[in-house]
Amino acid sequence: MSATTDNKRLTTRDIHALRRSGEKIAMLTAYDHVTAALVDQAGVEIILVGDSLGNVVLGYETTLPVTLDDMIRHAGAVYRGTTRAMVVCDLPFGTAKDPETALGSAIAVLQQTGCQAVKIEGGGAAAPIVARLVEQGIPVMAHIGLTPQAVHQLGGYYRHGKDAPAAQELIAAARELQKAGAFAIVLEFIVPEVAAEITQMLDIPTIGIGSGPDCAGQVLVINDLIGLNVGPVPGFAKPKADVAGIIRQAVGEYVAEVKAHPKEPSIG
Ligand code: KIV
Repeated sequence: MSATTDNKRLTTRDIHALRRSGEKIAMLTAYDHVTAALVDQAGVEIILVGDSLGNVVLGYETTLPVTLDDMIRHAGAVYRGTTRAMVVCDLPFGTAKDPETALGSAIAVLQQTGCQAVKIEGGGAAAPIVARLVEQGIPVMAHIGLTPQAVHQLGGYYRHGKDAPAAQELIAAARELQKAGAFAIVLEFIVPEVAAEITQMLDIPTIGIGSGPDCAGQVLVINDLIGLNVGPVPGFAKPKADVAGIIRQAVGEYVAEVKAHPKEPSIG
């Protein structure tokens, strides 16, 4: 039996109960009301309104142009579409740059969207920011490894923790973020053995993306799962549907039907 069986909205306590029971945690992104409702009905435990919104929905090359107002608009729509999943909203680039800025951003998100928690990218340096929010009663999901908001500093999107010093840095960061009070931590594109070690070491759940099977939970961008993309899909995402193909076909049939209708007399 699942550690979370009733229909009430899940909280950090339920997520920790899953971690303790060993049951894996399923998390997906969503950016709009309808998709969020479907994802919620299908049984995902955490919905992340990720700042991947920038690439996936808004057509930006990176997540950097995404604003707090963008996140608040989409997170509100997601939250209103759901009744059971815990909903977490990313704090976008520049809105969590120091503890007080992050606190203001997180308060705005929680007050204006209904979301229950925020996610903050960054290693050990983000620990004081996490601590400030937690002190104010705001649950924080941390995020280490590939942190797309730092893409220009990192010099691209690649796997993290490949050598011993890099692995040790990730392990230390995970420990500091747990100590600061993060309720969970995303491990993005980390060497699977390092992700497994971090998972074993921590009490809080790790949620992996492209970091191997041994994390306490997994997250994917919804579009990568359902095949709703017009560009390349990360290698670790194995699409389970071809929604892009279904849309192209349905729209193609619609266009053909419209065109097949007998011609109207021309005007003018
Ligand atoms: O923005 C996002 O969608 C994310 C997930 C990929 C973890 O941070």
